[in-house]
Amino acid sequence: MDALVRGLSLGNEAPSFAMWRWQEPRIESARAALARMFGCDPEEMAVVRNASEALETCLLGLPLKAGDQVLATDQDYPRMLTALRQRQRREGVELVTFPIPTPPRDARQLVDAYAERITPRTRVLLVSHVINLTGLVMPVKEIVALGRRHGCEVIVDGAHAFAQLPFTRDELGCDYYGTSLHKWLFAPIGTGFLSVRREKIAGLWPLMAAPAEMDADIRKFEEIGTHPAAPHNAIVEAVAFTEALGVPRKAARLRYLRERWMSRLAALPRVRFLTSRDPALSCGLGSFALDGIAVEELGRRLLEKHRVFVTPIVRDDFQCVRVTPSVYTTLAEVDAFCDGVERIARA
Ligand SMILES: Cc1ncc(COP(=O)(O)O)c(C=O)c1O
Repeated sequence: MDALVRGLSLGNEAPSFAMWRWQEPRIESARAALARMFGCDPEEMAVVRNASEALETCLLGLPLKAGDQVLATDQDYPRMLTALRQRQRREGVELVTFPIPTPPRDARQLVDAYAERITPRTRVLLVSHVINLTGLVMPVKEIVALGRRHGCEVIVDGAHAFAQLPFTRDELGCDYYGTSLHKWLFAPIGTGFLSVRREKIAGLWPLMAAPAEMDADIRKFEEIGTHPAAPHNAIVEAVAFTEALGVPRKAARLRYLRERWMSRLAALPRVRFLTSRDPALSCGLGSFALDGIAVEELGRRLLEKHRVFVTPIVRDDFQCVRVTPSVYTTLAEVDAFCDGVERIARA
């Protein structure tokens, strides 16, 4: 926040010299820091404004023709599905969505759900690294490998994964990865990245036009006109903070907090979990339902009576409350949440 505020003041008060000569070139420091953390070359890292910008660049910018199919689950983020539906209306590219078990038995079930639906017309798979509705961690590595075997591009939505879970680009093997940085990296709102493997850059159109000389330059995805440099420069501070914590330690703490409330609520007869407790399929986010009480009502009582804010998720296929502690959440706070659910369950 301090870096953001300082940068905003400078950019808006000083002559444009400051923005163009001092501030904007520092995007290269953010690029280098993010590339180091993600495990790619800086020339494969575009600094953008959020996951939506990163992923819509891929979803709208890959050259596809009428009749080509894109596969996505019906739990992928609504904005991404909206982008694909617009492409469907505009160009006749077909979006095929399918349900996934909630919670799944194992990773295999999720990979099979994609594999069963691949046809000779499938060109692109969209996969969320972490499903925002329940916190399910998807087997991205296996889905990327599946896509590669079938000659499909695989776009990974990492909005909830980057800086929550430890991984590198090469562990996943992916070519396209987009994320926001205001969630788990704690960078300012209005920051994200799009990483595109070097040999794929020229084949992906940017959302905003760039000159032909930039065709193979990752910076073509940053051609957005005048914008504040302060948010992207503050990313450097957020990376330093996260590296000091260490993402593996952060993930271990988040799993510990999730297990603390889940193991306690598991003793309540009416509780059902919609997130697997298998550490391979989950990290900090968890979701549950309390049979006999609507999730909106559960959320309302937790907030009004117990001062705990959770996210009620209401869909046709399932309802749950998503619980999202972070590294600053204390054990006393997690226990207070459990006390609240227990009281509601017994009422
Ligand atoms: C899985 C997932 N993808 C994409 C997004 C979009 O992120 P943003 O609004 O920061 O662009 C979100 C936001 O919550 C998300 O949870």
